[in-house]
Amino acid sequence: MSAPHIILTAGPTIEPLDPVRFLSNRSSGKQGYALAGALTARGARVTLVSGPVHLETPPGVIRIDVETACEMMAAVEAALPADAFIGVAAVADWRPAERHAQKLKTDKAGFANLKLAENPDILRTIAHLPPGRRPALVIGFAAETEADPVALETLAHQKMRRKGCDMIIANDVSEGVMGGDNNTVLVVSKEETSKIPHADKSAIAAQLAGTVMALLGNHRKV
Ligand code: CTP
Repeated sequence: MSAPHIILTAGPTIEPLDPVRFLSNRSSGKQGYALAGALTARGARVTLVSGPVHLETPPGVIRIDVETACEMMAAVEAALPADAFIGVAAVADWRPAERHAQKLKTDKAGFANLKLAENPDILRTIAHLPPGRRPALVIGFAAETEADPVALETLAHQKMRRKGCDMIIANDVSEGVMGGDNNTVLVVSKEETSKIPHADKSAIAAQLAGTVMALLGNHRKV
């Protein structure tokens, strides 16, 4: 059987306002890069669509660099077909409605009335592709500021329904997870929930990669 193709997004997106300013977030890309490496080590062919990060590409991973959510959406669509899609990126939900060619002057009223436009929801779009084009397994991450595991699981189920994906990997990002080296995650699917206790991001990635490859093996047999 040929190696499964997995498209994975990682890192932040940056949404320019003018040549020097942008909207973004604190994602370092570490969890996504670790997962891309772990999946490749288990024999997957991984296309990593990455926002701007300061990380080395894991050996064997095909990396496509993007900056904005719209570019990330286009790169993911261009990389299809795939057996699985995993959205680890912290995609900016909104972008400045207008991208100014010149640096905005601070004395302009423009700042107080900054207009935003909604970005495409990449995970939701991929999860709703027609059968045949939709990857067999579509997985999202949920960054929540919710430490209570029961509440975190409820949020994950809601997000899974809203996005139309098959699994949500939920984590509480309230304390140093974004940019940090450690993580604790809940793996939530329609059938079951399991917890991966506090560990460094590469150990979490190794466990997640095992789960994903096992699920793909089952999907590809039927
Ligand atoms: N995601 C995406 N495209 C977006 C926003 C999010 O692909 N425009 C993906 C992320 O990669 C992640 C998942 O959706 O896999 C959840 O992202 P999150 O930010 O937690 O969810 P939101 O949709 O932004 O919902 P909210 O912030 O309201 O919880």
